[in-house]
Amino acid sequence: MNTKARKVMIIGTGNVGASAAYALLNQNIAEELILVDLNRERVEGHAQDLADAAAYMPGMMNISTREASDCADVDIAVITVSGGALKPGQTRLDELQSTAKIVKNIVPGMMAGGFNGIFLVATNPCDIITWQVWKLSGLPRSQVIGTGVWLDTTRLRRALAQTLDIGAQSIDAFILGEHGDTQFPVWSHSSVYGSPIADVWRRRTGQEIDYDALAERVRKHGFEIYNRKGCTEYGIAGTIAEICRNIFTGSHRALAISCVLDGEYGVNDVAIGVPAVLTQSGVQQIIELQLREDEVAKFNHSVSVIKANIARLP
Ligand SMILES: NC(=O)c1ccc[n+]([C@@H]2O[C@H](COP(=O)([O-])OP(=O)(O)OC[C@H]3O[C@@H](n4cnc5c(N)ncnc54)[C@H](O)[C@@H]3O)[C@@H](O)[C@H]2O)c1
Repeated sequence: MNTKARKVMIIGTGNVGASAAYALLNQNIAEELILVDLNRERVEGHAQDLADAAAYMPGMMNISTREASDCADVDIAVITVSGGALKPGQTRLDELQSTAKIVKNIVPGMMAGGFNGIFLVATNPCDIITWQVWKLSGLPRSQVIGTGVWLDTTRLRRALAQTLDIGAQSIDAFILGEHGDTQFPVWSHSSVYGSPIADVWRRRTGQEIDYDALAERVRKHGFEIYNRKGCTEYGIAGTIAEICRNIFTGSHRALAISCVLDGEYGVNDVAIGVPAVLTQSGVQQIIELQLREDEVAKFNHSVSVIKANIARLP
């Protein structure tokens, strides 16, 4: 029997990091949770509070605080740092300079500390920071991923599920590209048990599906939440927990996450949201879809926006 404790380190325990810790605890995804934050009082407070909550959970969880560089034994390091909240009207790309500087300070110290697990990046702009972590770490690309468009994909499935009255898990639809304004739903591959989504929609509603309205609704959803409560946290915490679970179980499930491409989709040297098969060693393969011509153009536009921002990295 494999009795090795599953260890997750969360770096940055603000809204997202603390919620991710609670989701991992509630879903019994790890045996050990290590919290890291610049704010030592608050991170210690989170650790003590979570330890209280752990008493009500089905499994045992050891919760501690450490420096990020003390990470040689960590399986998954989740990056949820931020340099401060967005101002009204700003996009995720506006976080680049502040978050990239923080990441530049953290990752080399972790590698010097012997990290050889999987980096999971939620910090925005997610794809650009994922690429930055991959470059700074020198790890194989299979070990560096970002939450990418998996949360957006979940939002798309939920939007479809509500209208179709079919459980979201039975809907095969997903978002590709940047976790940002250039993301897009892959309608050419969207179906319910092989039945094209447009047909299922027509049968259910008697109307044609409004592709653009749905894509826009998903794209803006994060900001709908942000404008109301000043952050988003529980949804992305669920995304982080689900990705960690699929890694630990070696599920071989394909999730639309941010991966570094090396020739897939005709693209190199960029991290972007694509369906990727997850195992205990990280990304085992990237699924290459036969995209329609308009989808290829959207994907390439997304790549060019991410690459232009990679070029702005400090
Ligand atoms: N990928 C997604 O879908 C998604 C969704 C929501 C938020 N986010 C992103 O997640 C990030 C975090 O958001 P948040 O609302 O939790 O921010 P937050 O400001 O509440 O938390 C950030 C935390 O990082 C800590 N921190 C900063 N520098 C650090 C360092 N050098 N070492 C350790 N900790 C450090 C801060 O002290 C703070 O506690 C942001 O970039 C945000 O845009 C991504």
